[in-house]
Amino acid sequence: MGSGIPELLDKKHHDRSDIMALLQCREEEAPLLFRKAASVRDRYVGTHVYLRGLIEYSNICGKNCLYCGVRRDNVRIDRYTLTREEVLEAAMTAYNLSFGSIAIQSGENSSKVFVDTIEELVRTIREMTDGKLGITLSLGEQSRETYQRWFDAGAHRYLLRIEASSEALYRRVHPDDDMHRYHRRLECLKVIQETGYQTGTGVMVGLPFQTMGDLADDIIFMRDFDIDMCGMGPFIEHTDTPLGERGTDNLFLKERFNLTLRMIAILRIIMKDINIVASTAMQTIDPAGREKAISCGANVVMPNLTPARYRAGYQIYEGKPGYREINESNVSGLNLDLIPGMSLGLGTWGDTPHFGRRINAR
Ligand code: 5AD
Ligand code: SF4
Repeated sequence: MGSGIPELLDKKHHDRSDIMALLQCREEEAPLLFRKAASVRDRYVGTHVYLRGLIEYSNICGKNCLYCGVRRDNVRIDRYTLTREEVLEAAMTAYNLSFGSIAIQSGENSSKVFVDTIEELVRTIREMTDGKLGITLSLGEQSRETYQRWFDAGAHRYLLRIEASSEALYRRVHPDDDMHRYHRRLECLKVIQETGYQTGTGVMVGLPFQTMGDLADDIIFMRDFDIDMCGMGPFIEHTDTPLGERGTDNLFLKERFNLTLRMIAILRIIMKDINIVASTAMQTIDPAGREKAISCGANVVMPNLTPARYRAGYQIYEGKPGYREINESNVSGLNLDLIPGMSLGLGTWGDTPHFGRRINAR
């Protein structure tokens, strides 16, 4: 006979079948899982929600991921790149609002101009903020040299979602060409870690063809890789993409949302002291989605600082909030009343204890 959920939650080590059981626990049992995850979060990384001001630098992308609205072949969006001044202004907004960090995200581009521009921007932002504003990059697959240059310029965290840790699933949601190789992505993630970045990855939950076993393996992948940060979100169809043409069904969306909460909670229980994002995709499905993710163990949110007029161009999935959700009186856009006991971690980088531990262990 298998163990009940309380016994499973008390185990020191969770194997694949334990993770599967937690992913599939009965709905009445899920609150136990969520509460345990929140208490692990409180104990290992504290009761602060850290903010990363998100700057969506450009929606020009050389890739063609089958799920993403920003993919190269989508001719129905206007392509943009922020000017230097717009990036610096958004960064200063983050700094002045006491956000500990910013995250610069973009479609994938490895041109010389792009690489040079990012390097200069990172350096300038560090100078303008006396080195106080943390900089996360999420700029896709690059060469070792590029990762190193951006690191030397002052970026210290890098997010590269593996998207699906199963190679077979990865192949089903990407074109079969040299731009979209699972092994290259994995290699990039390793190089990012070796370069010295706090390393983040993540997956989409509810992709077509994905199984519960795939999701359990995603958690094991993140544990074995010893990541410092994770961003996971539900897959949301975008009509102008091969995987979204047939639209979506709200019932399935709700299921993906609930499954993402479980993924967050299980990852928190297993990896304890990493940073976990309450993603915007959660908020897209449920207006209180980010707060719910925080109640299940997440501890980071990424309020969008991209100038409002570009927002429509960065619709990775449909229904992504296009409005500016922050203002001076509520810098996170969160409803803190929904997450009693949590407060904003302002004016600090909000690094994970995990990263320090990982580096010291080398
Ligand atoms: N639904 C949810 N997330 C998506 N992403 C891309 N397309 C979608 C979609 N349709 C996620 C990917 C990518 C991140 C920028 O957005 O995980 O890494
Ligand atoms: Fe480009 Fe990223 Fe979208 Fe893939 S997921 S098409 S790399 S923006």
